Amino acid sequence: MLKNEVKLRELPPLKDRLEMAEILQKEVYGYLPSVQYEMKVSEPVILERRFAKGKVHHSRVQMEISANGKIHSFAVDRLLHVDGAKRPLIIYPNFHPMGASQYFPIEELAEYDADYLVFCYKDVSSDDGDMQNGLGALLLPEGQSTPHTCGKIGIWAWAAQRVLDYGLTLPGTDAANIGVAGHSRLGKTALFCAMTDERFKYAYSNASGCAGAALARGNSGNDVDPKTKGRGETYYDIYTRFPFWFCPAFEKYTVANVGTDFDQHYLLATIAPRFLLVGSCSMDGWADPISEQLACVAASEKWEADGITGACFNEIIAPDKAYLEGRIGYFKLDSQHFMSRHGWRRFIEFIELHKTETI
Ligand code: GCU
Repeated sequence: MLKNEVKLRELPPLKDRLEMAEILQKEVYGYLPSVQYEMKVSEPVILERRFAKGKVHHSRVQMEISANGKIHSFAVDRLLHVDGAKRPLIIYPNFHPMGASQYFPIEELAEYDADYLVFCYKDVSSDDGDMQNGLGALLLPEGQSTPHTCGKIGIWAWAAQRVLDYGLTLPGTDAANIGVAGHSRLGKTALFCAMTDERFKYAYSNASGCAGAALARGNSGNDVDPKTKGRGETYYDIYTRFPFWFCPAFEKYTVANVGTDFDQHYLLATIAPRFLLVGSCSMDGWADPISEQLACVAASEKWEADGITGACFNEIIAPDKAYLEGRIGYFKLDSQHFMSRHGWRRFIEFIELHKTETI
């Protein structure tokens, strides 16, 4: 029984959603910038009309943000149906520009009953400690000036939220069915984005691992990948290489490698009573699939307390299996660290299954 496994991890008990979100912002990811800004979106340029037999066009806009006397614009690619009927909209911060990404199978996704707005995270701000490029310069003009100022995860999430502002102006957007998806560091970003913005009904994190969906307590990794020697990434590992993703206050947790009064199930539980899909990759010991699945079970109590089904699985899931019925869906791909069309298909199935459910 997974609930027993969860007990062995001796996790801090769940709290009120806002309280958990507050702790995670203060101690891990930082607070999103609260700046006065203006946003302008260019006219779309159509790049390809032939997806889904011409029913879906690929087009691009430039989103221009002005704040603190500076301007930055970044490209947002649109994969939109042209019939104007309302559909779920998925916001996807990606590693690569659309068209050049193995993590975004355009032709296949265009066949589904959803629209997509996609941007390349580095167009928003670089993936390093330079806080003064791209939106960084606008949002954090003084850099990470307090221990609780967000890092790059916060900046990328803020951008995804602005892309949603734009998405809500499009006639084909079903505002009751908005999702955010991301892989790995951008899976952490997707979870944080949904935590801080309740307009997202669905969050899908793929192999988000440490400081994402994986519990830090009882770090288990897996034995498949000899590189991880049976353990996954720790707070120390992640903060040593990527301190700029987080707020400076997070550093203090890299000694014990656990959050004194939080663990990653808090991040998942802040999404209740909405819909969360966690995807793991079976051979990805670094992201610790077992701890990702156990975090779902631990977070599930937040849904159950409201009489709603969260996670409905009781055993460690075998590779290639998916459980999508509860409001916490989980699946495991039989793969290395990767976001593939199989994961996307699970997300679309998850949305299809829950599309008519209200929050
Ligand atoms: C590194 C990092 C992970 C992260 C991953 C990625 O492996 O240690 O935490 O999820 O990069 O984003 O690809």
